[in-house]
Amino acid sequence: MPTNTKKQRIRKAVFPVAGLGTRFLPATKTVPKEMLPIVDRPLIQYAVDEAIEAGCDTLIFVTNRYKHAVADYFDKAYELEQKLEKSGKHEQLDLVRNVLPEGVRAVFVTQTEALGLGHAVLCAKPVVGDEPFAVMLPDDLIWNKDGPGALKQMADHAEKFGVGAIAVQDVPEEQTASYGIVAVEGFEDRHGAIRRIVEKPQPADAPSTLAVVGRYILPPTIFDHLEKTGKGAGGEIQLTDAIASQIADSQIDAYRFKGTRFDCGTHIGLVEATIRFALDHEKISDAARDSMTKALQELGVIDLS
Ligand code: G1P
Repeated sequence: MPTNTKKQRIRKAVFPVAGLGTRFLPATKTVPKEMLPIVDRPLIQYAVDEAIEAGCDTLIFVTNRYKHAVADYFDKAYELEQKLEKSGKHEQLDLVRNVLPEGVRAVFVTQTEALGLGHAVLCAKPVVGDEPFAVMLPDDLIWNKDGPGALKQMADHAEKFGVGAIAVQDVPEEQTASYGIVAVEGFEDRHGAIRRIVEKPQPADAPSTLAVVGRYILPPTIFDHLEKTGKGAGGEIQLTDAIASQIADSQIDAYRFKGTRFDCGTHIGLVEATIRFALDHEKISDAARDSMTKALQELGVIDLS
């Protein structure tokens, strides 16, 4: 039987951001996918804010040697700050300064070879050390407007029960081959212990239609499993396979988070998130609604006459 681990709050979050983002070429020829904006903030900022809200103060970015934009973004911009200060642009100054609030540090680790998500997480081992930690895939943007973010919901649960946690949501059967898929013993409220987890199974082989979304809270022993994990689906070292081995030793729960997930690793997901955040934006919501209404009228989708 898997056992529970020590009841400990997560403080560290790992962001695997070494991918090439080929789906978004040519934009990603020079701009990393994590830096693509949703209205006025880059994708990575949403995940970072969610991690900080959950209590993380150490953000570990696993990147590659060509990607400097993410590190530059989280670095202090002295000249820009001075200019904004001199010209009295205090609102903009706050925006620039609050990219990383005080007391939160960013650490950068290089993944020298693109061997898969599991390998990327393993690269963070020396910085994570011997404590539970989060893994956040910034492509998955999760919006919970009036309540806590997904990672905070999961961190509260993981700490309370001394377990790991993985965010899940139901997907249509024909989409199982795009996700890690879990089988759960049974749900109590929003959570249930994972009994099986498989990376990207075809619908016929999938143990359920409950898909892993890019938020994980894992015990440090996952690194032992990752070290023993060989190539899996797609010829890559998969985090899912290490978790499959981990659940024999320690409990990891599937957690049905509250909130809407946008798959910003796809064109339509990025557009959907942009539309949703524009419609909710404190400065442009009215203009966004007018503009979308006009476009839908012009296309004959709606008729308000
Ligand atoms: C990764 C994981 C997969 C998970 C997905 C969530 O896949 O390997 O298990 O369901 O993220 O977004 P990727 O989308 O990076 O291929």
